[in-house]
Amino acid sequence: MRVVRVPLGERAYSIRIGEGLLSGLGQDCERLGLGRHCTIISDSNVAPLYARRAAQSLERAGFEPREITIPAGETAKCLARVSDCYHELARHRAGRDSFIVALGGGVVGDLAGFVAATYLRGLALVQVPTTLLAQVDSSVGGKVGVNLKAGKNLVGAFHQPRLVVCDLATLETLPPRELRAGFAEVIKYGIIADARLFRRLERDLDPLLRRDGGALAAVVARCCAIKAAVVGHDETEQGRRAVLNFGHTVGHALEAVFGYGKYLHGEAIAVGQVFAARLSARLLGLPEGDVDRIRSLFERAGLPTSVCLSPHQRENVSRAMRLDKKTSAGEIRFVLAERIGQVVWGRAVAASVIREVFDLLLRKPSGGG
Ligand code: NAD
Ligand code: GLY
Repeated sequence: MRVVRVPLGERAYSIRIGEGLLSGLGQDCERLGLGRHCTIISDSNVAPLYARRAAQSLERAGFEPREITIPAGETAKCLARVSDCYHELARHRAGRDSFIVALGGGVVGDLAGFVAATYLRGLALVQVPTTLLAQVDSSVGGKVGVNLKAGKNLVGAFHQPRLVVCDLATLETLPPRELRAGFAEVIKYGIIADARLFRRLERDLDPLLRRDGGALAAVVARCCAIKAAVVGHDETEQGRRAVLNFGHTVGHALEAVFGYGKYLHGEAIAVGQVFAARLSARLLGLPEGDVDRIRSLFERAGLPTSVCLSPHQRENVSRAMRLDKKTSAGEIRFVLAERIGQVVWGRAVAASVIREVFDLLLRKPSGGG
């Protein structure tokens, strides 16, 4: 098992990474000195697969778990489902000493985390991510929240978990498309912080896509270590944490415009990262060879690198980009790469340049979608 610490002083916590950790969840929670009552929040795909095992482990350690199941998918990450959870918690008479276990992908983690941040002004949270994307990114760092129709993650809070348990064995049941979407965040870490990781992904992508346990453990741990270091320096995104949003301005806009259905989060940010790489070449001199390596790695991972938009959708994407949280004083700010492994953040980019680079990402509608 590998352990990565998130260095946040008295709120520091561990990310435990390994095969079969779900059966030790109860013992892990016991060490945190939490109250006996807890609620496992999961979704309709994950609960039938893993909620029983999680509940049994918690029961063996003396906890009294309840379960709440939300519908699977990004459209469930909304205030209506948060409200459902509040009512269930009230029905279960969850007290301030009870805690929430978020068992699932990033949708469950973000939503359950937001419920934990707000119910009774804050309950303890344990993240048990079951997608690659959630293991390397969303379960770590304390950003929790839900979407509005107007944009992604517009309602939220910072609420750090007390523990993150990444059981790599849960990835065996993950649909291939969801696994590939997780690689969009994995590749992001290579671009923003670690050229060696990027080269390793270029070399080992095939065994990773085959879910080779050893290769995955090392990569998940490296991604978590990068995120832990960034969050440790800038928990509430006053500056450096913004690097984690590389490719997200366009990515979030695509998700919002297509109604959180057509593109998975990972797919949308793959397109967004290729956009950001092209923008970086235009504005910071990122070598064209690096843009090609970035695009080709996403393609090898089976992720989209271009989009097909009608003029109307294109206008909506521009509007959604302006609404994104990364907009400041009306200017759209980007994270840009100087080279693979090194980025700068907070770069305001003129609308005309954004339009010009966006043209390079557009496919013709007749091209088969
Ligand atoms: P997801 O939670 O929708 O999970 C993907 C799909 O896989 C769902 O249908 C789910 O039911 C299913 N699933 C999950 N685990 C499974 C398993 N082990 N076996 C079989 N099926 C399984 O999506 P995601 O990609 O994990 O997360 C995306 C969300 O994460 C987005 O809302 C995004 O905004 C958010 N996010 C948040 C942060 C953050 O810092 N909080 C960072 C990155 C992404
Ligand atoms: N995924 C962006 C962040 O955690 O800050």
